[in-house]
Amino acid sequence: MQTMKLSNGVEMPLLGYGVFKVDPGECERCVSDALNVGYRLIDTAQAYFNEEGVGNAVSKSSVSRQDIFLVTKVWISNAGEEKAAASIDESLRKLKTDYVDLLLIHQAYGDVFGSWRAMEKAYRAGKVRAIGVSNFQSGRFYDFAHYVDVKPMVNQLQCNPLVQQQGIEPILSEYGTKMMAWGPLGGEGADGVIKNGLLASIGEKYGKTAAQVALRWLTQRGIVAIPKSTHVERMIQNLDIFDFTLTVEEMKEISALNVHDAGTVNFGDPQFVKYLIEAYG
Ligand SMILES: NC(=O)c1ccc[n+]([C@@H]2O[C@H](COP(=O)([O-])OP(=O)(O)OC[C@H]3O[C@@H](n4cnc5c(N)ncnc54)[C@H](OP(=O)(O)O)[C@@H]3O)[C@@H](O)[C@H]2O)c1
Repeated sequence: MQTMKLSNGVEMPLLGYGVFKVDPGECERCVSDALNVGYRLIDTAQAYFNEEGVGNAVSKSSVSRQDIFLVTKVWISNAGEEKAAASIDESLRKLKTDYVDLLLIHQAYGDVFGSWRAMEKAYRAGKVRAIGVSNFQSGRFYDFAHYVDVKPMVNQLQCNPLVQQQGIEPILSEYGTKMMAWGPLGGEGADGVIKNGLLASIGEKYGKTAAQVALRWLTQRGIVAIPKSTHVERMIQNLDIFDFTLTVEEMKEISALNVHDAGTVNFGDPQFVKYLIEAYG
């Protein structure tokens, strides 16, 4: 598995497996399948309610813990120094491990600076190998990264050929922050990426699907992709992207597919913020 180096020197696999919306009852089987077919990065979150399933699969796997890169995220209801600290210990318990490889603030709401202080402490205590954020769009990211002590090593954002996140790239670079792509195939129920004509026609040249071209395009940009599938044949397909290279021309053609550069969700929309705070704050 190819890796990329985070700003603190930690190596992170360039492709991983995400478990958003994977039923808690099915999660152990899915993560076991993913590890068996070769995934070495697993992305979960407190809000996915399936950390136990991930922990069961990892602890029972023949792949040793040090070869697995585990990612989880602090949810809004756990924002603030004390609550975030307690939630980190709870995540470690559920994941059946004494450290996670990457811990992210899931959403930019609530006392995120308090959460970050707890995460910096966990990082210095060795409970976490790297820390970062998720869904911090450019202005919010800039404000946050400017004021915190340990700079975020990762920002996990919606990113795929229709949502390219080109605008935030220079801001992330300024802080040495790497991008990780959620929804790399467009997400559940959306076929704009996996049925895209251009991606399919480029794929034909290499004997690959549109989904594989999308994942290759992301990783060739130096962005970590974490596709989700409950089907083992798709897990295998999504991992099989390292035996071809898109040409400069093909990369440019795909760049022209950008529709919603900063994402399809406006995280600054007051109605959306109100919903999140009322539901989880
Ligand atoms: N930080 C955040 O706020 C955030 C938000 C969303 C997601 N995430 C993370 O990012 C991960 C990936 O995002 P996502 O789950 O939203 O979407 P995604 O990986 O872009 O797409 C998943 C969907 O594509 C289908 N699929 C997978 N491989 C396929 C293939 N080769 N061909 C055709 N269809 C395929 C899956 O169906 P089947 O399962 O039926 O195969 C599922 O419906 C999540 O699991 C989660 O870990 C983070």
